[in-house]
Amino acid sequence: MNGALAFCAPAMRISFLGHACFHVKSAQGEILFDPYLRDNPKAAVGPEDVTADAILVSHGHSDHLGDAVAISKRLKIPIVATYELALYCGKQGARAHAMHIGGDHSFPFGWVKLTPALHGSSVEENGKTICTGVPCGFLVRTEEKTIYFAGDTGLFGDMQLLGDMYDIDVAILPIGGNFVMGPEDAVRAAKMLRPKMVIPMHYDTFDLIKQDPREFAQRLEALRIDCHILRPGESVEI
Ligand code: NI
Ligand code: MN
Repeated sequence: MNGALAFCAPAMRISFLGHACFHVKSAQGEILFDPYLRDNPKAAVGPEDVTADAILVSHGHSDHLGDAVAISKRLKIPIVATYELALYCGKQGARAHAMHIGGDHSFPFGWVKLTPALHGSSVEENGKTICTGVPCGFLVRTEEKTIYFAGDTGLFGDMQLLGDMYDIDVAILPIGGNFVMGPEDAVRAAKMLRPKMVIPMHYDTFDLIKQDPREFAQRLEALRIDCHILRPGESVEI
């Protein structure tokens, strides 16, 4: 291999597949976040198109758990989630690796730590609501890059703690409002997290979460925080 080329090769590619679904590929492996694809009006790919070594699912809501069980079965890969959601996925026939808030684990594809998220977590099944514990966010470190995927959450002060404890390269933050942080709170989150780059998510999929990501980006740029807006299907290399 050409040494110069190897040096220049990007450590990691982050692809936005729509809503809160991201695919992260590094030399260590491939990670899929919140694979809501089949029923997602903005999905860039179908659930049958994706490859991964693991699926990280932030909570049970259908726009996050999405096609995780089907993809887990097809690729024979684990769903990494909080204990209650992992248990539910296991009962559906998926492979599951249970973790919980504050816990971390080193997988072959990278290091994962579960972070708090202010939200709910449930699955609708046959007209019944099944509670799947608490939601989470994820810190992932692979190839010496640290990603913070906030999941669905409102603003919370311990984002400051995450910013103090970790040198975050990319923070993936919801900005859609209504169910999650809106742009103003997400700007405040970015100030506390101090990442090198922010990627907005969880907006424009439905009318209820319509937002202008460019305005959000301008507000971050004014704070000298790089904001990378990805349309479904687009990627960024870091
Ligand atoms: Ni949700
Ligand atoms: Mn959601």
